[in-house]
Amino acid sequence: MKNWSESVIYQIYPRSFKDSNGDGIGDLMGIIQKLDYFVDLGIDAIWLSPIYPSPMKDFGYDVADYCGVDPIFGDMKDFDVLIKEAHSRDIKIMMDYIPNHTSDQHPWFLESKSSLDNPKRDWYIWKEPKNDGGVPNNWRSLFGGSGWEFDQMSNQYYFHSFLKSQPDLNWRNLEVKKAMYDVLRFWIDKGVDGFRMDAVCHLYKHHGFQDEGKISDDKKDPIRPEFDLDYSLTLNQPEILVWLSEVSTLLNEYDNKFMITECSGRYSDLQLLLDWHESGISHIHSPFNFHLLQMPWDAKKFKEFIDQYDNLLSDEFIPNYVMGNHDSPRLSSRIGKENIRCAALLMLTLRGIPTIYYGEELGMEDVEIPEYEWVDPDKRFINGRFVTRDPERTPMPWTGEENAGFSSHLPWLRINNDYQSVNVQSEKD
Ligand code: GLC
Ligand code: CA
Repeated sequence: MKNWSESVIYQIYPRSFKDSNGDGIGDLMGIIQKLDYFVDLGIDAIWLSPIYPSPMKDFGYDVADYCGVDPIFGDMKDFDVLIKEAHSRDIKIMMDYIPNHTSDQHPWFLESKSSLDNPKRDWYIWKEPKNDGGVPNNWRSLFGGSGWEFDQMSNQYYFHSFLKSQPDLNWRNLEVKKAMYDVLRFWIDKGVDGFRMDAVCHLYKHHGFQDEGKISDDKKDPIRPEFDLDYSLTLNQPEILVWLSEVSTLLNEYDNKFMITECSGRYSDLQLLLDWHESGISHIHSPFNFHLLQMPWDAKKFKEFIDQYDNLLSDEFIPNYVMGNHDSPRLSSRIGKENIRCAALLMLTLRGIPTIYYGEELGMEDVEIPEYEWVDPDKRFINGRFVTRDPERTPMPWTGEENAGFSSHLPWLRINNDYQSVNVQSEKD
């Protein structure tokens, strides 16, 4: 298999890639059926967005069992076939690893919640209310509102960086660390080659639990002005650097493993990226570089950034470039269909790892989803209107047939009409 530094990673959002059993939702067997497609494309590694058992409140980013497969996607036998078939084609498999939070239905949280003296109570972040019964501090959830959720039974609040059904794990607890490191070993033993690590920038919260400061008006994100805290106590805490070193040391016990970690989802500064690179083992770890995803499509600005980033990272480090993922509008809709070949050329020829979001190779566009069909829980008020991440998560078109060859059933999210024979009747006439 190729070195990671020369690999092209392709992100599959499993619900939307290929449905094999006609329930309208993509699954592992669907991916297995399409493995030769990756050989044709020249893909070296596939990153699977989460396939774990989950109540699917955040479509799998709310994990109820880190060592299983949700029946929607198949079972562990299918997974074993996927590994075997992918490896026989020299394709590596990366799992999405979600260390920051579990589902509120995970047995660990159910135990933690069951009583104040449960041995797993400290596995999550619990705090007393303020004297007036209010939330412990002003920390926010990235999905809107307070990050604290009150539990009536124990009269305490727990913290969640995302949905209230995604309680944050307490990584200061050594048992949590051990259990979560065991999860990595479990998947490596199953034959997995690497991990995409979710929301790593949120892993530690400052132990003082003080209020976060507010940022001045001129520093506010004009698109999301309600995010007015400085996130100095809940994002990018220094403990993360130690974590990166520990986790990459764990992966280094094995042969040719790799991790790509989610650094701040916002425009992250270059020094931060460098610190993250330097904390992990250089040939095993690369923190996501989201700059090209968040910058305007402007050749001069792109060149300036790429020169800076590439010069900063000496040969031992592995840069990476992201221009699309399941959390951002489609490349084609953002920069225009006429520019996507140029973007692909750039991504595929720069030093470092490109990650390609499924369908970008076809120029897939955002699909307008009417509000009554919205399913994403993250509804953001951007530029005066609510948007979700549904438009960039729609099923992959495979043929010109009904449901674009994705499924024999109506898919879970609508498909761009351009890709299917919607007007069969009039064609016959
Ligand atoms: C990451 C994922 C996003 C998810 C969130 C919570 O940012 O990319 O899709 O909603 O973490 O797990
Ligand atoms: Ca299916």
